[in-house]
Amino acid sequence: MEKKSIVTIDGPAGAGKSTISKILAQNLDYIYLDTGALYRALAYKALKKKISLEDIPALTDLCSSTAVVLKKIDGRMKVYVDGEDVEEKIRTEEVSMAASKISTFAVVREKLLNLQREAGAHGGIIAEGRDMGSVVFPQADYKFYLDAQLEERIRRRYKEFLGKGVLVEYQSVQKDMLARDKQDKQRKLAPLKVPEGAVIIDSDNLSVGGVVEKIISYISVK
Ligand code: DC
Repeated sequence: MEKKSIVTIDGPAGAGKSTISKILAQNLDYIYLDTGALYRALAYKALKKKISLEDIPALTDLCSSTAVVLKKIDGRMKVYVDGEDVEEKIRTEEVSMAASKISTFAVVREKLLNLQREAGAHGGIIAEGRDMGSVVFPQADYKFYLDAQLEERIRRRYKEFLGKGVLVEYQSVQKDMLARDKQDKQRKLAPLKVPEGAVIIDSDNLSVGGVVEKIISYISVK
């Protein structure tokens, strides 16, 4: 693998994209870019300002008045909103749903597009999200689509919350996952889909190490 490639990992919530991307970035000495964090960051601010998530003029104002900045820290791009480190605050179910909702609007996607492309301008990046290989980096050197069965993704997300000590009902994780899958796949703009030329990896019966190994094998043989 020549140095400085762009590697994209798309897929639905709970497929393991973040876990896998972080390990890949470490193994390859690449930068990890979590693009969902950008949508979450804007959604966090919209919720904080009590903006209706359907109100396009208000969201347009929010986009033009909000500084979303990516800083390279410890091998990954970290998101700051108006100078605030929002890392911990954007991981709630409320923010997940709000991010999915506002990501359907052109004004939001346009605001974040260049930021993502700039982060990948020099390659050496593992970019994960919903439209990495289809819209943001269609020229990526290696594209992957990471998937898993719905029940498995719900179970993983539920365990993740429990692991963080967050009290949440299994049924509520299930309901949100279904709603988010539908919204992310059916929206008009940059919907979640298998990008052209992507390798599909089903992580149901694979360990984290197994998925990483599989991806690396594709990268090194291409
Ligand atoms: O990957 P995530 O769960 O952190 O993403 C949160 C939401 O952000 C997701 O439900 C849809 C949106 N998103 C997007 O529209 N495009 C991306 N590239 C990444 C995330």
